[in-house]
Amino acid sequence: MSVLSGKKVLLGITGGIAAYKTAFLVRHFIKAGADVKVVMTDKAKSFITPLTLSTLSKNPVISSFTQEEDENDVWNNHVDLGLWADIMVIAPATANTLSKMANGICDNFLLAVYLSAKCPVYFAPAMDLDMYKHESTSKSFKALKAYGNVMIPAAHGELASGLVGEGRMAEPEDIVAFIEKDIQGKLPLNNKKVLITAGPTYEAIDPVRFIGNHSTGRMGFELATTAAHLGAEVVLVTGPTHFNLDHSLVTIERVTSAEEMYKTVHNYYSSTDIAILSAAVADYRPKNVADKKIKKKDAALTIELEPTKDILASIGAIKEKQFLVGFALETNDELENAKKKLTRKNLDAIVLNSLNDEGAGFGKPTNKITFIDREMNATAFELKSKSEVAKDIFNEILKRACLENL
Ligand code: CTP
Repeated sequence: MSVLSGKKVLLGITGGIAAYKTAFLVRHFIKAGADVKVVMTDKAKSFITPLTLSTLSKNPVISSFTQEEDENDVWNNHVDLGLWADIMVIAPATANTLSKMANGICDNFLLAVYLSAKCPVYFAPAMDLDMYKHESTSKSFKALKAYGNVMIPAAHGELASGLVGEGRMAEPEDIVAFIEKDIQGKLPLNNKKVLITAGPTYEAIDPVRFIGNHSTGRMGFELATTAAHLGAEVVLVTGPTHFNLDHSLVTIERVTSAEEMYKTVHNYYSSTDIAILSAAVADYRPKNVADKKIKKKDAALTIELEPTKDILASIGAIKEKQFLVGFALETNDELENAKKKLTRKNLDAIVLNSLNDEGAGFGKPTNKITFIDREMNATAFELKSKSEVAKDIFNEILKRACLENL
C-alpha cells in the first residue's frame, strides 16, 4: 500500500508540452490509491483535453472561476479546493507559472488555488534548458523552496525544442515515487521498527483440541495499520485469527502457541524501537500434549497445566532503548492492578481495558481504554472504534517516546 493511499491530490497543470504526460500522472496517483482532482490553466488545454483528465480522475476538471458555458454559472471556490487537498502538485510547472507563484501573482484560477492551499505543494518544472538555467528561473525556485514548496527536479534529456539538456519534466512514475519518498521521510515513525503482538494463542491438548480464548486480534491489527501509516516498519506477531493486512511496511508472523509467540518476539526484539504487546496469551498450557486424540471415557478427565512464559515480562527484563507497552485486561481494582503490572513487567506504559466497560473487550469493534505511563499518569478515553483507539495509543506513545534516542 502506498503512503498516497486515501490522500487527496490536487494536480495543477500549466501550459507546457509535458502536459500531455499528465494523463499518466493521474493514472499513477489513482493506482497508488489517491483521490485526484485536476485544475488546469487555459493554455494547458492546448496540450491535453479536460475530458481526458476528468475521465481518468473521475472528477470535473476546473480551469476558471465560473463555468461560463453553463447557464447556471456556478462559482468555483478556489479556497475550498485549496483546503480539500492533502497535497498539491503542479506539473508541468512552466517558467511563467513558477515566476507568478514566486511573486504572489494571481491572474488565473490555478494560481488562486495555489495561494489558498494550506497543504504541502510540490512543483515539477518543465522548460527548455536555457530557460531552466536562467537566473530569474533560479530565483523563482529559490523563492518557492523558501515558502516550503518542494521542487521535483527536471530531468536531463531530449527537449521539445530538439535541444538536449536539463529541463524535461520528471517522468510521471518518478514524480509519484519522489512524492511517496518525501511523504514517507517526513512521517514521525519513518525508519523506526515497531513490534506488535495480537490475537489469542492456542495451547494443544491433543492433535485436535486446544485451550484458547475469545481474542480476535482486531486491536493488534489496528495498531499495526496505524504504525504503518505513521511510517514505521512493522512486525505483527499474531496468534490464530481471520484478519489479514496487506501493507508494504507490515510483515505478518503467524504463530499458534505462546511458546512460538515467545520465540518469534525474541527474534525481532533487539532491533525493535517500540513494542506493543496486545495479544491475549494463554497463561497456562497442558503439561503433556497427547500425540493421539484422547478417547472419551466414563471417568472425569484431568489435564495438568503448567505456566507459559510471560513474553511481556521477559522482554521488559532485557529492555534497553525500546519503548515497551503492555495491555492489561482487568475485572476489578483495574487501575491499581494495571499500575502493578506496569512496574512488575518494567514497561514504559500500559493500556488498561476494563471488562466492566460496555463495548470494550474481545471481539468488539470498539474499545475503551485508559493509558497509564511510567510516571503513573492515567489518561482515560471515551468508547471509540478500535482504529481510533489505535491512533490514541500512538499519540500517547509519540508524546513520550524519545524518538531520536531509539
Ligand atoms: N502477556 C504476555 N505473555 C503472557 C501473558 C501475558 O506477553 N504469557 C502480556 C499480554 O500480551 C499483555 C500483558 O502481558 O500485554 C498483560 O496480560 P494479562 O493477561 O492482563 O496479565 P497477566 O500478566 O497474565 O496477569 P493476570 O492474568 O494475572 O491479570
